[in-house]
Amino acid sequence: MTSYVDSPSPGAGRRAPRADLQTDSPRLSLNGQWKFRLSPTAEGTDDPFEDWDTIRVPSHWVLEGHGEPWYTNTAYPFPLDPPHVPDENPTGDYRLRFDLPPHWPDTASVLRFQGVDSCARVWLNGTELGHSKGSRLPFEFEVTGLLLPRGNVLAVRVHRWSSGSYLEDQDMWWLPGIFRDVELLARPAGCVDDVFVHTGFADGTGTVRVDADRPGVVEIPSLSLRFDTGVSVSVDGVEPWSAESPRLYRGTLVAGGERVELAIGFRTVSIVDGRLFVNGRPILMRGVNRHEHDPHRGRSLDVETMRRDVLLMKRHNINAVRTSHYPPHPEFLRLCDEYGLWVVDECDIETHGFAYSGWEGNPPADPAWRDALVDRAQRMVERDKNHPSVIIWSLGNESGAGDAFGDIERWIRQRDPSRPIHYERDRSYRHSDFHSVMYPSLPELTEIGLREEPAPDGVSPGSPDDVRRRSLPHLLCEYGHAMGNGPGSLADYQRILESHERFCGAFIWEWIDHGLWGHDADGVPYLRHGGDLDQKPNGERFCLDGLLFADRTPSPGLVEYAKVIEPVVVDVRPSDITLRNRYDVIDLAHLRLLWTVADDGIAVASGELATPSVAARATAVLPVPPAALAVPPGTGERWLTVRAVLAADTPWAPAGHEVAWGQGMLAVFKPPAPSRSSTNVARFDPTTGRLTGFGDLAITGPWLDVWRAPIENDHGHGGLNDLARSWRAVGMDRFLHRTDEVSTLDDGTVVVRVHCGPATQTLALKAEFRWTPVDDRSVHLRVTVEPVGIWENTPIGNHTVTLPRLGLRFGLPATVETAEWFGPGPHESYVDSQTAARVGRHRASVDALQTPYPVPQENGNHVDTRWLRLYGGGRPRLRVTGDPHFAFTVRRWTTEDLDRAAHPQDLRPSDTVWLNIDHLQQGLGSASCGPALPDRYRIPVKPYEFGLTLSRG
Ligand code: GAL
Repeated sequence: MTSYVDSPSPGAGRRAPRADLQTDSPRLSLNGQWKFRLSPTAEGTDDPFEDWDTIRVPSHWVLEGHGEPWYTNTAYPFPLDPPHVPDENPTGDYRLRFDLPPHWPDTASVLRFQGVDSCARVWLNGTELGHSKGSRLPFEFEVTGLLLPRGNVLAVRVHRWSSGSYLEDQDMWWLPGIFRDVELLARPAGCVDDVFVHTGFADGTGTVRVDADRPGVVEIPSLSLRFDTGVSVSVDGVEPWSAESPRLYRGTLVAGGERVELAIGFRTVSIVDGRLFVNGRPILMRGVNRHEHDPHRGRSLDVETMRRDVLLMKRHNINAVRTSHYPPHPEFLRLCDEYGLWVVDECDIETHGFAYSGWEGNPPADPAWRDALVDRAQRMVERDKNHPSVIIWSLGNESGAGDAFGDIERWIRQRDPSRPIHYERDRSYRHSDFHSVMYPSLPELTEIGLREEPAPDGVSPGSPDDVRRRSLPHLLCEYGHAMGNGPGSLADYQRILESHERFCGAFIWEWIDHGLWGHDADGVPYLRHGGDLDQKPNGERFCLDGLLFADRTPSPGLVEYAKVIEPVVVDVRPSDITLRNRYDVIDLAHLRLLWTVADDGIAVASGELATPSVAARATAVLPVPPAALAVPPGTGERWLTVRAVLAADTPWAPAGHEVAWGQGMLAVFKPPAPSRSSTNVARFDPTTGRLTGFGDLAITGPWLDVWRAPIENDHGHGGLNDLARSWRAVGMDRFLHRTDEVSTLDDGTVVVRVHCGPATQTLALKAEFRWTPVDDRSVHLRVTVEPVGIWENTPIGNHTVTLPRLGLRFGLPATVETAEWFGPGPHESYVDSQTAARVGRHRASVDALQTPYPVPQENGNHVDTRWLRLYGGGRPRLRVTGDPHFAFTVRRWTTEDLDRAAHPQDLRPSDTVWLNIDHLQQGLGSASCGPALPDRYRIPVKPYEFGLTLSRG
């Protein structure tokens, strides 16, 4: 049955879209407890005698005990038959009785909804006001003359599915309801309805003009300015607005007795010679894609949560946000203005699921949808046009191509010529001021940087589209897929992004995991993904791909990203220290430079360097502080660390907050050679050749180990790069072990020869363990590994099999509680994700060494460890010393347990602490949505040799 629900029309009865203004006119929040009743179909309920529940507004009803949330990635959760939706269309009827506050003016009033998912039909006091679609966009109704002093009844019928859902196929939970604020606004006679603040900045001079639909007077006290609307004013000596220095000039516009707050930022965005500039300076956005998400409240965020996001971003050196894939709550943009973040404001348009019809019927290519699509762009631009932080409009995400994008582009250019436009998915880029792609490989990104990328499908080389595209700046709208453990290669990407002027910014996919709190059958709380609920189809755990865990704990990926994009590169060498200012606008005057010299991780000297004056994008070279060089020789490795910290409090972090750091090794002091002994402190089982004890420490192993619990990136995406499958096909997850020989040489060396390989296959690794006594506390182990059998013809598709890891597994008593090590830390590190790990002495409990990925997988690795000490329960200590370095993982369960677990609560401590000492572990990559892991981060099957020393104490 066709009705307003499944007609493509965007709505009816609504007021024209306008700016989101803060004024001193009376405003009544209608948030709170509403009456609610859920019906199975769009008919809703008209029975006033039914028992109605109460529900909080704003919220999503599926997170308030009515029905269930549903996650899909690209799939529509209903038949692809636009614009129709099924009769099974959960519909929430909402009702609120409210009184007007005393002295509510007797003038015009407007009812505003900031966001209702997906279609709302609204009545006030029995009069139908209209309906609206476009979930993440505001709509307003004129209610003048309909209001009563007391006992108003506002009724809203909200349909989970509507034609609008076809335009909202973003990769996220489907979460219906009135999920943003509802407000009643008094509009005094003669007040302005809409305001458009136009600013510019060039050569020290700012310009400002405030357009409004009625005449008014603008005042900016801090600039001693007072001028009429519609008049352009130039001001010398203003500070421009930028993400790094977000100077806002607060002002007002007075009209009709109403004061409208203005937060004016002077800035000009331009594209010149294929580069993006703000205020005449090139910028490089170091960004994230941000969905609105809270693990309890879905996309119904409170302001404190929005502020938390902004603060977390600023504290992790992020300077830009793409509001994937819809305009955020307007308060978030106010915070971006205030704290300083560049924003790519993206329209609430995604039709990804038309991929399942071969893009047949795709709305942007069908004139029937034109109004609905243009309506969304208009509502975004009108609402957000006054934010200095918004520097780019994005037309939407993954919606193919179609004439509607031309219509939208034309409308935006005419309405707001001051901001460039981004759209990634139309490969002609005709409607975009940027070339843009998602998830390129490193070589592909380099080609793009050089403007040498191949012409996309459908674009002939040398054609006007091809030539124009190469002339555009590049905005990397998604890369670094942060699903599970990862992403790797962030430093590799950053190097390329900084090597070519074409790049104006890059945005990690994505900011936060979309896990939702729930309980398992035993009542244990855990963060659920799509596959943890019953709806089908669902995108399972593909929604867990953020730099923050869903509870907003930073993941190691965020720590790595913060370091990779730090605004100052501090390059410490024994000869000098180079500071590279990566800020695009500001110098380094707000930073203090603190240095420390440490021997084997123990500080032996420290001090402060005078911060030199280094302009944006400039470099300075400083001498190493003489006091650091004057420290007498010590022991072990001597490292100089220089930290750049905030000199004073800022709105986003206190003084002392570290924004950047660098380290360099100054010297290595060799320890005296140990006195040799021929008594082996280790005891071996004569049959297996494995340790049975070590001094008075209980220890078992080693087993040669190649298995890791696959991380999300090991599974690849869409059948591509599925290394985990190939590893399992080969049998890497089930190696069987055999000891071929155990012998003792005259000097006390014990030689153990082993063979390990999977059932069925001839492929195997042969290894020799050579245990040579060092002194009465230590034994040195040299391991040689050689592949044997047929590795090439394994049933793994067309790629060469590589090893997940290569190392040794030991078992230790469960009393081991603490790990202390010298090497990179404290966070986990991998061969392609180790920028954030600093060389030092670190200590952590075994439990704290686990990163609780919501889908259990390999974690907690530490590359390049020099030595590791394990202890606890008053028992003897075990020390492992590298020859020279090793990687370690220590946990209370085995890799196999980790591999089997579906959720963190499935992992139970065993009676053994399992220690992996690895020669190598494969890197992380981001193949869960992205290119294959580069070869250099894989472990080829070939002979290896490595060593380590085990000691007591
Ligand atoms: C992109 C898409 C995002 C998300 C990501 C994978 O193609 O734009 O919304 O789905 O892939 O997580």
